[in-house]
Amino acid sequence: MFEALIVLHNVLRWLVLIAALVAIVNAFSGWFGGRRWTRRDARIGVLFAIAMDVQVLLGLILWVRFVLVVPGGFGAAMGNPGLRFFAIEHLVGMLVALALIHLGQVLGRRARSDAARFRSNAIFFLVATVVIVASIPWPGLRYGRALLPVI
Ligand code: HEM
Repeated sequence: MFEALIVLHNVLRWLVLIAALVAIVNAFSGWFGGRRWTRRDARIGVLFAIAMDVQVLLGLILWVRFVLVVPGGFGAAMGNPGLRFFAIEHLVGMLVALALIHLGQVLGRRARSDAARFRSNAIFFLVATVVIVASIPWPGLRYGRALLPVI
């Protein structure tokens, strides 16, 4: 069952990144193009947030198992950079990114002008995506994993 969750978590990474790209391009084009904010713009941000929420939920389930299966437990993982990446860095980076996405949405909703709405989304979504990209276990890194599931 956990193998299936890892496969899903791996593939969903690409959906999150595509949703992020669409949301960022849309927010910047709305901001610099002086467009009016519509329900479509809100929906694009919501889709990005939902993709990330689902991915984080899957990740938290995997994290609990990951920490439980490490021989010696959480303490032992701290001494091993490969294990520490998933036990701490990956977890914290993704939680920070999740908070930034939701903050960008809340501030966007409270903004007084359309330009300010687009700006909140653009800046927070961009910074969140940089954090996500920096926190992914890309192939080639010491703790790297495959670009697509190895089935
Ligand atoms: C708080 C949020 C998250 C937690 C706690 C988490 C936790 C984990 C854990 C424990 C693993 C290793 C699983 C194992 O081998 O047993 C993992 C792998 C991975 N995570 Fe996350 N994750 C989170 C969010 C994300 C997000 C947002 C992305 C990308 C958008 C992501 C991308 C990946 C990828 C690509 C792998 C490698 C999967 C594979 O081995 O094929 N994670 N994650």
